[in-house]
Amino acid sequence: MSRVSLRPAVLEAVERLRVAGVHSPHTDAEFLAAHVLGVERPRLALVPMLTVEQLAEFRKLVDRRAERVPLQHLTGVAAMGEIDLAVGSGVFVPRPETELLFAWALAHLEAAGHEHPPIVVDLCTGSGALALAIAHARPDAEVYAVEIDPAAREWARRNADRQAAQGDTPIHLHAGDVTDRNVLSPLNGRVDVLVANPPYIPEDAVLDPEVADHDPHRALFGGPDGLSVITPMITTITRLLRPGAVAAVEHDDTNGPQVATLFANTSRFTAIIEHPDLAGKPRFVAARRTAN
Ligand SMILES: C[S@@+](CC[C@H](N)C(=O)[O-])C[C@H]1O[C@@H](n2cnc3c(N)ncnc32)[C@H](O)[C@@H]1O
Repeated sequence: MSRVSLRPAVLEAVERLRVAGVHSPHTDAEFLAAHVLGVERPRLALVPMLTVEQLAEFRKLVDRRAERVPLQHLTGVAAMGEIDLAVGSGVFVPRPETELLFAWALAHLEAAGHEHPPIVVDLCTGSGALALAIAHARPDAEVYAVEIDPAAREWARRNADRQAAQGDTPIHLHAGDVTDRNVLSPLNGRVDVLVANPPYIPEDAVLDPEVADHDPHRALFGGPDGLSVITPMITTITRLLRPGAVAAVEHDDTNGPQVATLFANTSRFTAIIEHPDLAGKPRFVAARRTAN
């Protein structure tokens, strides 16, 4: 079997992706090479050669990435917490910034020290990313996830089945609209921790082709101001949380104060805190349900 050197192939790919306007050409070229070679990216240096067949496969993937197909659609996976999720056409690719919401949820689950199995809700679950990462980290939790889009739900089902087969506590996946006044009504006043990464981009935003052409429209846009799902969803959150329970909602970086105000306007929340992401941009608002 004839073999060629990996290094020049990666350098050629980096240049190809850079010219195509890909934001992280080096990282993406390495991830694609690692995918083709079947190794983790940090172990790439241990595999200095590839077969001509692997080189052809690598170049094909680089061509598609240069067409601005998302990296995760090419490798078929995205990460959240300690788990990998299958992703592809029809579902939103989980983003690194949503790890902050995951970490926030875990911190609250730990701090609360619940006497009963904690009830956790993930509204707008997409691939199931937050719900499944929480269920993996907290096998004692009863986790519920809601998703409106049948195509996204199929991905979530597939991911949920795989995690359960690997020993995680199964989650409850619901078809539903988070703005519906009856969604998850059996959980009214019983939820301990709630997370939501809803569609929140204002309609007129200019997006990279990876996002605009590949994430589902319904996963991205929240009306003219980015708040068309969040505003009615706050009513759902207020209804579901038990007194003293907490919720966090991810939002567009233009909408931190607006989301905080939506919580405040209910007069049912205290400790309303705006959280920035790692780049210092407003990213999610957390709040605690009062007793009345
Ligand atoms: C930004 S994506 C987030 C997906 C996932 N939570 C994540 O972080 O990767 C938003 C998701 O909400 C779903 N969605 C949009 N409107 C909804 C609604 N009214 N009720 C339930 N789900 C909704 C979309 O289909 C999409 O899967």
